[in-house]
Amino acid sequence: MTAPLSVNGARLRADLQALGDIGRGPGGGVSRTSFSVEDARARAWYQARCAEAGLSVEVDGIGNMLVSAPGHDTGVPAVWTGSHIDSVPDGGAFDGALGAMAALECVRRLHETAAPLRRPVRAVVYSDEEGNYTHLFGSSALARGFTREELDQLTGRAGDRFVDTFVAAGWNLDRATRTRVDPATIHSTVELHIEQGPHLHRLGHQIGIVTGIVGLGGGTITFHGRADHAGTTPMDMRQDALTAASALIVQFADIAASVSDRAVVTAGILTVRPGSTNVVPATATLSVDYRDPQLARLEALGAAIAASADAVARRHGVEVTFDVERPIPPAPLDEGIQRIVARSAAARGLTATPLPSGAGHDSQNMATLVPTGMIFVPSIGGRSHCPEENTDWTDVENGANVLLDTVIALARG
Ligand code: HGY
Ligand code: MN
Ligand code: MN
Repeated sequence: MTAPLSVNGARLRADLQALGDIGRGPGGGVSRTSFSVEDARARAWYQARCAEAGLSVEVDGIGNMLVSAPGHDTGVPAVWTGSHIDSVPDGGAFDGALGAMAALECVRRLHETAAPLRRPVRAVVYSDEEGNYTHLFGSSALARGFTREELDQLTGRAGDRFVDTFVAAGWNLDRATRTRVDPATIHSTVELHIEQGPHLHRLGHQIGIVTGIVGLGGGTITFHGRADHAGTTPMDMRQDALTAASALIVQFADIAASVSDRAVVTAGILTVRPGSTNVVPATATLSVDYRDPQLARLEALGAAIAASADAVARRHGVEVTFDVERPIPPAPLDEGIQRIVARSAAARGLTATPLPSGAGHDSQNMATLVPTGMIFVPSIGGRSHCPEENTDWTDVENGANVLLDTVIALARG
């Protein structure tokens, strides 16, 4: 039996190290916010790597990049594999980057070995997976699309309007409303990703066979109080927006526990106006990110957060408004692809276990269109979305090889 085709591990490692240097800060964290200067540099670097390998890149209206080998037969539904290269602020060098670069490595290996396939294999990089403007922006644009009115509403974590940043970076807004993909052009998708949690590393398993992805909800909640003098205004005469916001945030743990033991709620950004030490805060806006693996519980979680916010506003004598993102449902992943991943891991002598994803991924959007699978590799200490995010290079190469086996099986099956 001939040895299975494998990736060029040294080349993949060099790619990940080079990409990790784009947007790296003094503390070692990576900041590549979508449509920022660092994002543009990473995109240019990625496209140069594709050109060096003789591969062509199409960029859609929201910046998703789709890579093809020469002779790509557009008449045959393709196998897609990829992830994202944007990051959270001061994040890690493997989140998204691993899957994006391993996908490119797979397409390179298939191209340079002229591997016989029934279907083309395409590498993809999804835009704004980290949701600077909205959760899983690029793959949401592929799966459902955005109207101009929806795009006009989007703001980034820095308070910038998406349409202003997007146009200033040279992108075209009209094309951004014409991004829905025809599912008939795609056979299946597979994404390699770090687990971003502790299970594989703690259990000592090398490969995670992802069974499903958590549902995501979010948006912002603004408490509207009244600016007053911090020195002359008695405590019982204040309408303090920040005190109200704080009273809500400290309830999140209990709200999550009231829904399920897998529910999570996070306030990652808090914006206080006018933002002066000697002014009682007039408004306090918090971002809310909430998740649960089950749709009904996700909806219950969103409702519980809103009800608590209303009650806190009444108690503190302030108003409250909500800017809610459209929730992204939880997604079970394709069982046939899970079996392919399990067979590949076993054939390569790798220990593997099924597990769900607590992180959101573009694959949950793609799973609404075509059969979709995910492969995890261990995150050391379960850390992610921080400079400490790390994965052993052996696990990187193992994951990429299992990805290669999987896309070959899908492209031949
Ligand atoms: O937030 C997430 O789960 C993903 O990293 N975007
Ligand atoms: Mn990711
Ligand atoms: Mn992430």
